[in-house]
Amino acid sequence: MNILIVGSGGREHAIAASVKKSRKAEKIYCAPGNGGIAEIAECVNIPAMEFEKLADFAEEKKIDLTIIGMDDPLVGGIVDVFEERGLRVFGPEKKAAIIEGSKSFSKDLMKKYGIPTCNYQTFHSPEEALLYLEKVSYPVVLKADGLALGKGVLICNTQKEAEAGITTLMLDKQFGDAGNTVVIEDFMTGREVSVLCFCDGTHIKPMTSAQDHKRAKDGDKGLNTGGMGTFSPSPFYTDEIAKICEETIYQPTMNAMKAEGRDFTGILFVGLMLTADGPKVLEYNARFGDPEAQVVLPRMKNDIIDVMEACIDGTLDKIDLQFEDNAAVCVILASDGYPEKYEKGKLITGLENFHDKEGYYAFHAGTKRTEDGIVTNGGRVLGITAKGNDLKEARKNAYEATKWVSFENKYMRNDIGKAIDEA
Ligand code: GLY
Repeated sequence: MNILIVGSGGREHAIAASVKKSRKAEKIYCAPGNGGIAEIAECVNIPAMEFEKLADFAEEKKIDLTIIGMDDPLVGGIVDVFEERGLRVFGPEKKAAIIEGSKSFSKDLMKKYGIPTCNYQTFHSPEEALLYLEKVSYPVVLKADGLALGKGVLICNTQKEAEAGITTLMLDKQFGDAGNTVVIEDFMTGREVSVLCFCDGTHIKPMTSAQDHKRAKDGDKGLNTGGMGTFSPSPFYTDEIAKICEETIYQPTMNAMKAEGRDFTGILFVGLMLTADGPKVLEYNARFGDPEAQVVLPRMKNDIIDVMEACIDGTLDKIDLQFEDNAAVCVILASDGYPEKYEKGKLITGLENFHDKEGYYAFHAGTKRTEDGIVTNGGRVLGITAKGNDLKEARKNAYEATKWVSFENKYMRNDIGKAIDEA
């Protein structure tokens, strides 16, 4: 099969690495791709939001399956464009991707169908939001309704902070129209767990669990980022909790989307908070997590194309989804200054240390190929993943592997997976 992957981050590199292992994959393309993906796929310089151009390319190259990695094209309706042109594509249609594209939609869905989450209120005007902030108890969580590169969530400990947050989102419009509507939620406490699920519109199959580290600095300090590292599985996500989630969250979400005429096909990312009152939904996303994909996919035993085709064909119930009985840890190597200001174009050395090293991966996020070699080209540069027999071994291996690569301004958190010690 000819496969096209749409996206350019560490998540798409991890997807491409899984596709490469598929017995069905022949030629792999990635649009637009990055410096690392170029080693296993032919990168094509078409931006992810150019839907018609991508569909033209898929027709021209006789692509048998297109996999959409990123949220923006999904929310923007890329799957609908491909389907209208009779092209086979993996991902939710626009009417289903709204589960990620609008936080107020997803909150209202959960409320209507009794799916456990926290209390919330939705606001379309800053004046109403500010009045509400006078009577809530703190902390509260402010969420821009639309997509905001994973950075539209503000945890506010005081009324003053929350008022400043409303100014940032609704008046200064730091995230553009994404902040026209804001959801204000109660703050939930507990362990966070990410569970990525394959979905075929009717059936849902959760993958092994993972935990992200969203803050930029050690000790969960600093600004929110796209994710600074992950581990899988989460030792806090027990079989008992998984069963509760399957009964009260995963299948009910599939059923709710179907009842709304928004059948969900593709990857549903369920961000969970394991609270004292049981697991609750923090957020939904309509695609693989990044960097969750970098620890989950390397542990998957199935041929990824088989599973994706089953999702498209509505036969996911026939798939026996299996993961290795081991663990993986991913440490993000970032450009110092991320997620604010940082420099690009720094030469990366040592990547050859990962070649043919079983169980070790350098997934490229923000990199670019130049005549001089591979250089940094973003805030998150590489996802260094290692497997181990257990989480502690995987963490030791991953941190060891972070030493194999160098670039100026290399920055990482030193406490990815620290929670493992508390399990
Ligand atoms: N790691 C969080 C996300 O992918 O949204």
